[in-house]
Amino acid sequence: MRLVITGSYEQMSIEAANIVAGQIYLKPNSVLGLATGSTPVSMYQRLIAVHKSLGLDFSQVTTFNLDEYIGMSPDNPQSYHYFMQENFFRHINISPENVFLPNGLAEDMVAEGERYEKLIEARGGIDLQVLGIGQNAHIGFNEPDVKFAATTHQVELDSETIQANSRFFASEDEVPRYAISMGIKTIMMAEHVILLANGRNKAEAVYKALCGDVTPEAPASILQLHRDVAVIIDKEAAAMLPDTIRGVNVTRKS
Ligand code: GLP
Repeated sequence: MRLVITGSYEQMSIEAANIVAGQIYLKPNSVLGLATGSTPVSMYQRLIAVHKSLGLDFSQVTTFNLDEYIGMSPDNPQSYHYFMQENFFRHINISPENVFLPNGLAEDMVAEGERYEKLIEARGGIDLQVLGIGQNAHIGFNEPDVKFAATTHQVELDSETIQANSRFFASEDEVPRYAISMGIKTIMMAEHVILLANGRNKAEAVYKALCGDVTPEAPASILQLHRDVAVIIDKEAAAMLPDTIRGVNVTRKS
């Protein structure tokens, strides 16, 4: 595991965008796993800027998003479909037929999970997965649990997550209670993973992910077992980390 501690959210976003852009330059038909939330917004802005200024070409890129709220149609501004269109897809030259998110309106979520897994497999698997982290150390919408859920599945959101995500809604009551999310195995199968986190409110989750036991009670801790993870965070999110962490190669960039 590599850990890059940056001086700011902007620096974190540049580092992350460079990794994604590098992946696409090396393999123009890359399959990317993408995340929503406030954390990757500036990374998407950087990638859009690189597309516009240097011609970073997304025409052969395929994307799979981590998750979607259940019951939300793609044209609902609170949906992750809408978020991705607004924050990324409509600004780049990606082909709509290469963009995938779980369908939050599917009648049968078990079948939808299977369909999504098959789609990922048919595209050759995920080359680079981008992750944020929840305050409770969730990745995607894999909430703390007694076991790791393997593949794309329906989840009931934690009260902590509902509260954290209520900032995007008019009130907490409007936050959906259920979502469909890639599972831990889906994420762990990705060739490369980058985990992003910024802000003091993520410091405990980052500590659990990097220094805690590998446990489904802190889902991000599973990344300690992945063969190629870069954790890119700002200094606030690194506030609880010790100077050295076993098995982690630490770089500091201001
Ligand atoms: C959300 C998403 C995650 C995201 C996380 C953190 O609920 N399901 O994929 O990484 O919570 O969100 P934010 O980046 O807004 O802090």
